Amino acid sequence: MQTNVMDTLMNRASIRRFEDREVEDNIIEQIVRAGQQAPFTGQMYSVIATKDPQKKAEVAKYLGKLPLVGSVFMLVCVDFARLEKFIEVKSRENSFDDYWMSILGIQDASYFAQNMVIAAEGLGLGSVFLGSAPWITPQLKELFQIPPRVMPLVGFVLGYPAENPKPRPRIPTKHVLHWDRYQSMSQQEAEEALQVMDAGLIREGYYLQLQGKIRLKSQTSDPVSYDQYGWGEHISRKFGQGGLNMKEQGKDMKAILNEHGMRLH
Ligand SMILES: Cc1cc2nc3c(=O)[nH]c(=O)nc-3n(C[C@H](O)[C@H](O)[C@H](O)COP(=O)(O)O)c2cc1C
Repeated sequence: MQTNVMDTLMNRASIRRFEDREVEDNIIEQIVRAGQQAPFTGQMYSVIATKDPQKKAEVAKYLGKLPLVGSVFMLVCVDFARLEKFIEVKSRENSFDDYWMSILGIQDASYFAQNMVIAAEGLGLGSVFLGSAPWITPQLKELFQIPPRVMPLVGFVLGYPAENPKPRPRIPTKHVLHWDRYQSMSQQEAEEALQVMDAGLIREGYYLQLQGKIRLKSQTSDPVSYDQYGWGEHISRKFGQGGLNMKEQGKDMKAILNEHGMRLH
């Protein structure tokens, strides 16, 4: 199935219900190849694909049930190791520090990942990203035999969609596109932008269907019901309450990355 690029982009939505149908290997290969056609600085990416139910179950222990719902779990990694191999083949050493490497490598891997998602969409498949992969680097390293300096960045689940959600809202473009100079948002504009987001997601019952409320840390009962719980409430809880469960468990991202061969100080 061929679709127009603008239509594909404007109609994409994350898919969280999938048919019980396998995605063929040759389709996955095409998707990865299309991913590779993204712009790059050093092709600093790899993707590990698995359909193995045991491996998917292991990932689901940490990242939720979606890897078990879709046909394939794809783990996108920032791959410094292979670039450094190429540099070594040419008898040189990597002279970039790991902060700059990370900025470039995360870009390479992100554009690669997003190209794959769009390629999948164009082929009639659906996907959803799973962003907590870096927190479980030690477990993923074990499960997929990932060497040092190959950093899990983001997972995504791929499959034939069993739902067809409408495209989800975005902040009005006038707040994202700055002509000629940056224009900070006023308080009122921020409230209006959040209303646009909230209205769309509450209308869809987005967080209700996902049972996606982030619990309040300071209170036992939650004064915000699902018919008032929108994106503003969600992101302010997510970013404003000390972050993910992983952090509560005492995990430290810098330490996780350094244990996996990074040199971030
Ligand atoms: C880096 C990243 C991590 C994400 N992690 C998750 C996740 O763990 N679980 C999930 O259900 N969706 C996840 N998403 C999907 C977002 O929730 C989704 O893209 C966003 O709400 C907008 O919805 P849409 O993609 O349907 O337009 C993630 C997206 C990104 C880019």
